[in-house]
Amino acid sequence: MALAHERVFGQRADTLVLPIAPYKAYIETYGCQMNFADSELVAGILQHTGYGFTQKPEEADLILINTCAIREHAEEKIWQRLRYFSSIKRSRPHLIVGVLGCMAERLKKKLLEEAPVVDLIAGPDSYRHLPQLIRQVESGTKAIHVLLSREETYADIAPLRLSPTRVSAYISIMRGCNNMCSFCIVPFTRGRERSRAWESIVEEVASLAEEGYKEITLLGQNVDSYNDQGVRFAQLLAKVAAAAPHVWIRFATSHPKDMQDEVLETIAQYPNLTPYIHLPVQAGSDRVLERMNRGYTAEWYLRRIEAIRQYLPTAVISTDIIVGFCGETEADFEETLHLMRAAQFDSVYQFMYSERPGTLAARRYSDDVPPEVKKERLERVIALAQEISLQRNRLLIGSKQRVLLEKPSRRDPQDMVGRTFPGRTVVVRGASAFARPGDVLSVEITDATSATLIGYASHPN
Ligand code: SAH
Ligand code: SF4
Ligand code: F3S
Repeated sequence: MALAHERVFGQRADTLVLPIAPYKAYIETYGCQMNFADSELVAGILQHTGYGFTQKPEEADLILINTCAIREHAEEKIWQRLRYFSSIKRSRPHLIVGVLGCMAERLKKKLLEEAPVVDLIAGPDSYRHLPQLIRQVESGTKAIHVLLSREETYADIAPLRLSPTRVSAYISIMRGCNNMCSFCIVPFTRGRERSRAWESIVEEVASLAEEGYKEITLLGQNVDSYNDQGVRFAQLLAKVAAAAPHVWIRFATSHPKDMQDEVLETIAQYPNLTPYIHLPVQAGSDRVLERMNRGYTAEWYLRRIEAIRQYLPTAVISTDIIVGFCGETEADFEETLHLMRAAQFDSVYQFMYSERPGTLAARRYSDDVPPEVKKERLERVIALAQEISLQRNRLLIGSKQRVLLEKPSRRDPQDMVGRTFPGRTVVVRGASAFARPGDVLSVEITDATSATLIGYASHPN
């Protein structure tokens, strides 16, 4: 979820090098932000166990790959990486290879059978047991722990933050999901929903603020159902905002059926709660939404969008769309395009439906939209999304925006990339000469593409 959030699929986690420790671990992360947050917990646990870290798998004594199972393609990538790790292991026989995360949970010991290079398997609720599992492998047997828990929130485990710039941090405020959306594997890989104790979240936020972090993103599959001893999401947001008044607070993901006006009101009240809402719609046809088991209609969804714009006039709204779900007709699909026009999303993350074994949809419906039709619909979603984003971004040309700088631009390191308070990506020309990641600049927007704003900040001196 690039927030807006960065939903970076297939990127490697940054790792820190702590050369004193005798054993070096390498962690590679795929999937959603929650998986990235989990890798930081795992790094914290390993560091505590005495491991150092390397950014090169070829130098590692322990390779952990934190996996995603959301679509078939995500898993194919992991198989490919396992083949590569297997080639490393040929010249480093003592190397331990472990698979963590959602694919580990989905495939369980089948992974051991199909990939002999794998020594260790740990699901999302099993990371506390990693030190014992590693010891078991060292003593000569393969190790597997994939029990899901109803309580585990890792509230007491200190993550090792892997971001090199130390500007932004993620905090998982809950785990699991109770919404059986028919296409989705997450309830099977992450288990029942549970909320982390609000006190421990507020404490972590306050300590990140003290360490100088400028932006914190609170994570959950459905933040609107956060509930810890009667503290609901709106109240949690208020407590977090007050605990770190100078830190920009973001969150994801909101669910259209559960998002309360109280949350929107709270965001409007606190100057550090960012008006960024990621509200996945998935489809615009009520018939498809019903089959997806999403619990709302297109009209309900659009009324939620209206509420957001009413409470938060500067809101940036993004969404997720699945094309080619079971039984989706051309007419159904056109309703998705229609809804996109009505909602005027700032950005859209679009996916072709990928059947996941064991889900409700896989059991009940046939994956009957041909791949070429899925592809064509995906392209139409992309084209329309770009057209709308470009129009919306162009409206900001000539305005001044506060921008939190994240990093030098990859395309031209003289420029820096950051985000506006509501979450739009901005390239600030020439900023590397006088600013650093973490600085907030006032930027005059001079140009826009569908994905980014472009502008200049006057030199502070
Ligand atoms: N909790 C979030 C989403 C988690 S998964 C929510 O409720 O929206 C992220 C996105 O992946 C989903 O929003 C959906 O658009 C997409 N997705 C999930 N399962 C999928 C599947 N089987 N095929 C294609 N896309 C899928
Ligand atoms: Fe999956 Fe639905 Fe839960 Fe999101 S809300 S994680 S799409 S089951
Ligand atoms: Fe996230 Fe992928 Fe699991 S999206 S919850 S890592 S299936």
